[in-house]
Amino acid sequence: MYEVPRADAPERGCLVGFTTPDNMLGSRNVSLEELRALAATARVEVVAELICPRAGTNPAYFIGTGKAHELAALCRHHDLHLVIFDHDLSPVQTRNLEELTAAKIIDRTGIILHIFAQRARTREGKLQVELAQLQYMLPRLTRMWTHLSRQYGGVGTRGPGEQQLEVDRRRVQTRIRNVRNQLALVRRQRAEQRKRRQHADIPIVALVGYTNAGKSTLLHALTRANVLIEDKLFATLDPTARVHRLPSGERFVFVDTVGFIRNLPHGLVEAFKATLEEVCHADILLHLADASAPDLAAQIAAVESVLHQLDAHDKPQLLVLNKIDLLSHRARKELQQLYPHAVCISAQYRYGFSDMFTQLRELAPGPRVHVHLRLPPHKSLVLSRLYAHGKVINVTYNDDCVLVDAMVPDALLDELHRYRVKEPVP
Ligand code: GTP
Repeated sequence: MYEVPRADAPERGCLVGFTTPDNMLGSRNVSLEELRALAATARVEVVAELICPRAGTNPAYFIGTGKAHELAALCRHHDLHLVIFDHDLSPVQTRNLEELTAAKIIDRTGIILHIFAQRARTREGKLQVELAQLQYMLPRLTRMWTHLSRQYGGVGTRGPGEQQLEVDRRRVQTRIRNVRNQLALVRRQRAEQRKRRQHADIPIVALVGYTNAGKSTLLHALTRANVLIEDKLFATLDPTARVHRLPSGERFVFVDTVGFIRNLPHGLVEAFKATLEEVCHADILLHLADASAPDLAAQIAAVESVLHQLDAHDKPQLLVLNKIDLLSHRARKELQQLYPHAVCISAQYRYGFSDMFTQLRELAPGPRVHVHLRLPPHKSLVLSRLYAHGKVINVTYNDDCVLVDAMVPDALLDELHRYRVKEPVP
């Protein structure tokens, strides 16, 4: 299903985008711009584009019948065998469109998965992508068989392991269970690593941001970490944590996360939960945005919406506007008026870092003390205070008590005094 095209040459394809009420009134079709970037990242050469209205669609094709025939004519005219939709399609719609156009139809989740599959590097990243691919593949198994018989190649045709095309539904389900188990193991190992980080009590800053905002570039500039930096979407699929010492001496752990995207398909948020979990365990969120993006406000909103989904929107947050070097003096001024609390930087030219460090220091939690606690079972309020103001490393629920291992600020010590025990939680 989703492997790099066999030949080195990019595959030629057609994009199908949709007008929204806004761009019917003349504003830019930002969504198609993003699809173009996704296509470029997937090494697809865009030869034709078709814009369809959302209204008046036909459930059999998702787009209207007239538009579906227009698409088929476009494919014939340009001899195209690949069409990428800026929307998710049902397996039936995909099949109908493929029959009509004689082209391979890839929907939004399909193209994002294809890119994820190309880019996952660690074992966890690869497993996460495989799980998402298998789940996506399951209702489309018959489509895969059709593909096989037509012998299409390239984007969207091959699965996680070519042999997947030959397996039946039951075998895919078994593989899903197997991958889930392996992921659970990897997650436990990651939780251990996180615990060690928390023991060290260095504030953790998670870099979050729309894909391509410059997170890896910033992390590299900060720590000279060898993270993948590319002008392609989703260069980062696996979080990378690095310690950085500020010029003033404080240390922070910076964690890179997967790039967010508008309408990130829900299944993918689920699949990448482990990666995104780093966000939930951070002390501070550094929200990096591309100041030069024409749809900056929409990108910021998309990231905030994912943070809501993760229940992480209440964490201390610093908005950092990157790529400021690409803006004119006037545009910078306007931006600062629009986002008065944001810090402007250029990760590439290492500009504006001292302002960013000052703000980070202000958001950083104060020093914390490592304590072991034995709470009566009904003291859930104490536990929630620990989660809110400290760092809970481990919790064990017993019938008669709750054992907690945590880092807590000085201010909580008096209140917790009577629950403290010498022995760590087993
Ligand atoms: P994902 O992994 O897709 O989420 O991307 P990312 O947010 O990690 O972005 P990355 O660091 O890979 O940078 C994306 C592109 O923006 C690269 O081409 C960088 O060279 C470029 N870039 C990053 N920071 C700056 C900057 O300050 N100025 C300019 N001009 N370009 C930058």
